[in-house]
This record gives sequence, C-alpha cells and structure tokens, in this order.
Amino acid sequence: MKILVTGGAGFIGSNFIRQVLALGKDYVIVNYDKLTYAGNLENLDDVAKNPAYSFAKGDICDAAAVESAMNGCEAVVHFAAESHVDRSIYEPAPVIETNVTGTFILLQVARKLNVRRFVHISTDEVYGDMDAGAFADENSPLQPSSPYSASKASSDLLVRSYVRTFGFPAVLTRASNNYGPYQFPEKFLPLMITNALDDKPLPIYGDGKQQRDWLHVEDHCRGIVAVLERGRIGEVYNIGGQDIVENLTMAKALLRVTGKPETLLSYVKDRPGHDRRYALKCDKIERELGWKPTISLEEGLRQTIDWYRSNTKWMARVRDGEYRSYYEKYYENRDSSLHAIAQTGPKPSL
Ligand code: NAD
Ligand code: DAU
Repeated sequence: MKILVTGGAGFIGSNFIRQVLALGKDYVIVNYDKLTYAGNLENLDDVAKNPAYSFAKGDICDAAAVESAMNGCEAVVHFAAESHVDRSIYEPAPVIETNVTGTFILLQVARKLNVRRFVHISTDEVYGDMDAGAFADENSPLQPSSPYSASKASSDLLVRSYVRTFGFPAVLTRASNNYGPYQFPEKFLPLMITNALDDKPLPIYGDGKQQRDWLHVEDHCRGIVAVLERGRIGEVYNIGGQDIVENLTMAKALLRVTGKPETLLSYVKDRPGHDRRYALKCDKIERELGWKPTISLEEGLRQTIDWYRSNTKWMARVRDGEYRSYYEKYYENRDSSLHAIAQTGPKPSL
C-alpha cells in the first residue's frame, strides 16, 4: 500500500516512517514535508536510500503540489502541523494556515483522488484543561485553550464533517505528550535534557505544577499503525501514555538521571493561558485494537537521555539555526517579550 505521510521530516512523522518501513510489509512511503524550522531530513538519514521511501518537498497549503504527491497513494497519514503551543501564542497566523487551511486542502485533494483511508493525527489538547481526577474520552467536549489547540480542534471538526457529509474514509487519533529521539528542542523534555547536559538553567513555567501525560513516540507510532490498519472509519481514538507527571517532578527526575544539581531549576514567567492538566481515557483503542503503551516512563527517559547524549552533532546543528534567535527572544528576554504580547497581543502577520 502506498501512503502519503505529511510532515514526515518532523519528530513523530520521522519515527513513524522508520517504524513502518521496519515492519517488512508492502508499505511504500511518500514523505511530503515543507521542511519548516521543525522539519529535518537528517531524522531519516538511515532510511533515505530505502527503495520503499521517497521524499517530496512541499506545502500542504499548495493544492497542486499536494495533488501531484498524493497521486497513486491509497492512504494518507497526516502529521504536518505547526506543533508548538508557545509559537502559536507568539505568532498564530502560520499555525492557523497550516493546521486548518492545510488540512482542508488535503481533504479536498484526497476526496478528488479517492484515497481509501485518511488518518488525521490530533492531540489531547483539544479537550482543554482537565480537572483533577477527570479523564477525557473520545466524546468529551472540545475546549481548546491556545491558538494551537484551537487550530487542531478546528481541523478535527473539518475531518469529521467530511466523514459525515461526503462519506470520506477518515479516522482520527488524539495523543498525549510524546517524547523520544529526534524531538525538536523547543519542547519541554528535549529542552530540559539538553540544558541539563550543558549545565544551563531549566526554565520552569509558573509554579511547575502543571501535569502532562507522557507517551513514548514509538508507542504512539504503534497506535497509529493499528488505527491505519484496523481503525473504524469516522472514529476517534485517544492514545495516551497513562503516565501523568507534574513538570517540576519531571525536571527533577531528569536532573537526577543526568547527575546535575537542582540549583539549575529556574522559575520563569508562565505561558499565557497555560493548561494545568491533560489526562486521557484510552480504553477504546485497547478494547478495539488491542493497543496499550509498552515503554515505561523510566525506561523511555533513560533511552531518550542516552539518545541526546550520543547525538550531539544533530543537536548542535538543530540549535544553530532559527532556534538560537527563538531561544534568545523567549527565554533570555522572556519577561519583556511576554510583556509585549500581553500589552498589545502578537502583531498580526496576515
Ligand atoms: P513537528 O513540529 O516535530 O513536525 C512537524 C512537521 O510538519 C515538520 O517536519 C514540518 O516541516 C512539517 N510541516 C509544517 N508545516 C507544514 C506545511 N505547511 N506543509 C508541509 N509540511 C509542514 O511536530 P510533531 O511533534 O512531530 O507533531 C506531528 C503531529 O502530531 C502534529 O499534527 C501534532 O499536532 C501532533 N501531535 C503531537 C504531539 C507531541 O507531543 N509532539 C502529541 C499529539 C499530537
Ligand atoms: O499534549 C499533546 C501536545 O503536547 C501536542 O499536541 C503538542 O504538539 C506538543 O507540543 C505538546 O504540547 P505541550 O504544550 O504540552 O508541550 P510543551 O513541550 O511545550 O510543554 C510541556 C509542559 O512543560 C507544559 O506544561 C509547558 C511546560 N514548559 C514547556 C517549556 C517548553 C515549561 O515549563 N518550560 C518550557 O521551557
């Protein structure tokens, strides 16, 4: 089966492609990616010469380019997105463009080309802040808090409307916080790990008591394969690690494992609109598709820390680019940058 994977040069997409190619089934992958700051073909160096893999550079908002890449594909697995909550607060326009308009264009082209299966990769953030003790199931209301999560909820609704109105063969997944190899260092875990390894401060937003449910990326990708192969059309499947941890606890654990002192913890100005807690109920994917996470947080964290320790060249190149100015602006000058956003809102870039 020939599959168009959008956003395959990013963190989860590249792990997914590697895992699918290793299955030894008859999957042929076309990786369609714009190569934004977050897209990195180095993530796929080890499979670049695999005859079942090819790469096409392009934007999901470019209908003609999407059509040419999707032609002949039976399935689409749609990862491409602007995926960082903080950036969606600093500059929402590209987030809405890619996550909403881009998804719309993919749906249109996939309908035109009679694609047989479309897997839309979404997030637990669409359910918004969960009260202590509460867990979101697939029918919980969508209550997104950030421009990022609102854009993902919007695209989920668009996908569902295509199922209902056009009989479009889509399935949706909503996963919790992923971690593992090849994650861009703007995200919490790789940022904390690499700062700790470099003896740099670990920036904790607010009081650090926010909770996230951590899922190893390889477990997530196994869940996506199960949904691709056996998920019921029109259904949503939650995919969670079932390992809910406070940010501060996580940062302290990372310091322990890397052998660094807690004096590196640095409390910084909070993210505006910051969700306190995410928590997923994942009975459905276990019951219907037999999926559950297999990598414990302890084992996954050790493996991930080892990966960042041994891939210093990858990290140096990633940090050298656009990330350097991003970090200076929002971490080294955090108070004034966030103050400006609070006063005037981010400058519209439309
Ligand atoms: P990422 O930022 O690492 O990668 C995104 C990829 O999409 C990059 O390769 C980028 O170049 C590409 N891309 C961005 N805009 C594009 C466009 N207009 N056209 C084509 N390609 C474009 O993101 P990720 O963490 O791998 O997340 C992948 C998907 O999974 C996203 O849809 C995200 O919402 C979802 N998700 C992520 C997590 C997580 O914890 N990271 C959890 C649940 C769901
Ligand atoms: O829950 C799934 C979502 O997880 C995905 O949909 C998103 O694409 C992904 O980016 C992630 O969103 P979060 O906002 O939860 O992840 P992030 O890594 O940005 O932050 C995790 C937590 O750590 C959050 O409570 C904010 C906090 N944090 C983050 C950073 C970058 C800090 O305290 N300091 C930081 O420097």
